[in-house]
Amino acid sequence: MELIEHADALAPLSGGVLVPTMGALHAGHVALISAAVATGVRPVVVSIFVNPTQFAPGEDYERYPRTLQSDLAAAEAAGADAVFVPDVDDIYPAALPVPVPPLPAVATEPGLEDACRPGHFAGVTQVVARLFDLAGPIRAVFGEKDYQQLRVIEAMARAHPRRWQDLQIVPVPTVRADDGLALSSRNRYLDPPERDRALGVIRALRAAAETHPPELAESVMLAALRTHDLDVDYAVVRDASTLRPVTGSARPTRGLVAARVGSVRLIDNIARSVHT
Ligand code: PAF
Repeated sequence: MELIEHADALAPLSGGVLVPTMGALHAGHVALISAAVATGVRPVVVSIFVNPTQFAPGEDYERYPRTLQSDLAAAEAAGADAVFVPDVDDIYPAALPVPVPPLPAVATEPGLEDACRPGHFAGVTQVVARLFDLAGPIRAVFGEKDYQQLRVIEAMARAHPRRWQDLQIVPVPTVRADDGLALSSRNRYLDPPERDRALGVIRALRAAAETHPPELAESVMLAALRTHDLDVDYAVVRDASTLRPVTGSARPTRGLVAARVGSVRLIDNIARSVHT
């Protein structure tokens, strides 16, 4: 496996599969890399970059876990051909301001991430656009765990068919611990009682998956989250594609939750059964 530390060394690897990550790789990331390998497209390039522009002041940019040596071993074991580990100057050269692409509507849908983390998706689209430009992939892999992010990146790629020709976004289902908690690099900050409370998120979502109509599912989620003493940012049912509030019963819907326990913000989501 090749270790690439500078952007200009990426050009020969274009036409492959990109797996953007912020490192601290766990089984969820391994599933992303395995999905990249399963596309049959080579090379598989994993990027590891803790992107400062998607963190607001006071968020956990400084303390975000950085575990490069074990990340390299995990990426290689999962079948990556190369790992791109740029530094901040490489991604954001002082002499070349990296533009923020226009945000797709799905990024600013009221009541979701943008309401809680304004500016977050501007940072995500900025770095992902830069990574797409540098790596020139024809496939890029993103997890459903960050469901709104997945929809934002899909919309961004669709909006620029000439800039990223033939690029297809490959979604990968969320990987969960045996008890249902969605894997996240930040779970390591949960102490045992907080981890128990965190299970309220998947319990709320599983209840919502089978509850109709959406308003009832939302109150069921809120009740479950409050039972686990979680601070709720949102617990909503939305159209699975547009993330707009649900107006009819014909289209697929998704339950989406963001809640805080101690210093950790948990986000998760679930596909809901179709109500006929
Ligand atoms: O999902 C993440 O880890 C990050 O938001 C991403 C897509 C790597 C951009 O920094």
